[in-house]
Amino acid sequence: MMGSRASRQLSIWIWCCACLLAMGNAEAQTTLRALAKTKGKLVGTSLSSNYIDNPASMPSGYQSTLANEFNVYVAENSFKMSELLPNAPANPFDIQISDLSTAKIDIMVARARENGVGMIRGHALIWHTQAPSWLTTSAPGWTADQITAFATSYIKAVVTYCKTINDAVDAPVRIYEWDVINETIDKSKARAKKRSRGSAAKSSIGYRTGTWYDGVANRQAFIDAIFRAARNADPNVRLVYNDYGIEMYGSPKCNFMLNMVGGMVSRGVPIDGVGLQCHFIGPDPSGAGGFSSSDARKFEQTFAALRALGLDGIVTEFDLRLQTDSTTIEGNVTSRQLALQGDQYRLIVATALSQSNCPALLTWGFTDAQSWIPWACPGYGHALPFDRSYAKKPAYEGITTAIKALPTVEENKASSLTTTLPTASAMTFGQALSNSTLSGGEGSVPGSFTFASPPVAPTRMKSEKRPVASLASMWSASQATATEIWRASSESPAY
Ligand code: G3I
Repeated sequence: MMGSRASRQLSIWIWCCACLLAMGNAEAQTTLRALAKTKGKLVGTSLSSNYIDNPASMPSGYQSTLANEFNVYVAENSFKMSELLPNAPANPFDIQISDLSTAKIDIMVARARENGVGMIRGHALIWHTQAPSWLTTSAPGWTADQITAFATSYIKAVVTYCKTINDAVDAPVRIYEWDVINETIDKSKARAKKRSRGSAAKSSIGYRTGTWYDGVANRQAFIDAIFRAARNADPNVRLVYNDYGIEMYGSPKCNFMLNMVGGMVSRGVPIDGVGLQCHFIGPDPSGAGGFSSSDARKFEQTFAALRALGLDGIVTEFDLRLQTDSTTIEGNVTSRQLALQGDQYRLIVATALSQSNCPALLTWGFTDAQSWIPWACPGYGHALPFDRSYAKKPAYEGITTAIKALPTVEENKASSLTTTLPTASAMTFGQALSNSTLSGGEGSVPGSFTFASPPVAPTRMKSEKRPVASLASMWSASQATATEIWRASSESPAY
């Protein structure tokens, strides 16, 4: 009697375990965040400002996809200066937390907390666009020192406010990274030169003009100062330079970016990575064009160049837009375009996330129902992994296929016992680039780089402060160390 009861209990126990395992496997196969967790990567998305401003209007399909699929969020608009500092402060050269409108940060944190998402990227502290109108009116009358005082004190106030969220003892959500300055490199100068002289635009990339901070003549000193202000406000927050059109190694804008951040590293300016926005164009209605394997190779080389500088490359705003059958509205695309878009999504995600220095990939929105593309690029659309009804597109399958092919955290741990990866080095930028060469041919595993000379010890020249540990190394080392990102928390980290 006792024996059969015990065996019945054992059967029930085994059945329960099998169910739990099956549930785990099902989740691993069906959500990006579950898959990404096994690989030690962050896969995220931006949140539409419509639903931060008016959460009650959020469709249930939007909410469930947001909650189920991603493990890192960024606000599409809500952390920009026009939102956080909409009104002129009493003293613009000494901004206080009380000058800020912090409600949208709180809403974003609450949304992440409700959805069990522990990581938020901050986008963006300084940007020429989406600045408050009082600032664009006032700043042209300011001196360079006043502009710098404004920017550094604004950064201090915002980052300090977020630090209090990060440091809360029971905080399960952390604003772990900031785009300190967004899109300060511009090629419009190059276009202007080309028009006026009819010459090649090659080397005419420069610091952006036509901004509210144009009064700062020494742009690099300004950039150094704002990164330092962010690090001083929170020694644990990761600091990033973010831009578009810098993804392809060898392009003038990418070269300029590498020289800019390379200079910052050599001066000991606290910078942890570069945000590669990745707003790409996919195949046209005939099926031609889009992201090719040669693009993938250049993209991979950009990660290698950043790795040689000890910097991460973060895919911050990924989408791949499709040309539609209309030149004015979003219009329709062919099923072939959608299938090819899926292949190109796979190639892009695989290339990025297989890099040891790419800890995170975020799409700019996730549903075609909420995307900046149709209004900003008429005649294009369908750029995201979910359609307007939140159904998964081939692009979604492209992401999952790419993530599934990545080594697991355990495999990474095992291989790191036998491999020494090149990290931050004291080489000059030029040496680092010329010493790094891609190994393998087309189709080889991306991310395998060899240095002609042995990597130099991972220290930065002139650095007064220890750089924040690379997320990639923390995450690939072990899942346990990832918990350090959240500090002691009563809830387990959610990602
Ligand atoms: O919130 C106002 C609303 O009150 C008003 O009624 C409405 C009328 O047009 O405008 C609303 O603001 C819009 C805002 O998006 C929120 O929807 C702004 O006009 C519009 O300009 C703003 O566009 C954003 C754009 O940045 C600003 O240049 C896009 O949503 C956002 O996707 C886009 O994101 C940028 C990244 O920050 C940086 N990289 C490029 C990326 C795409 O442009």
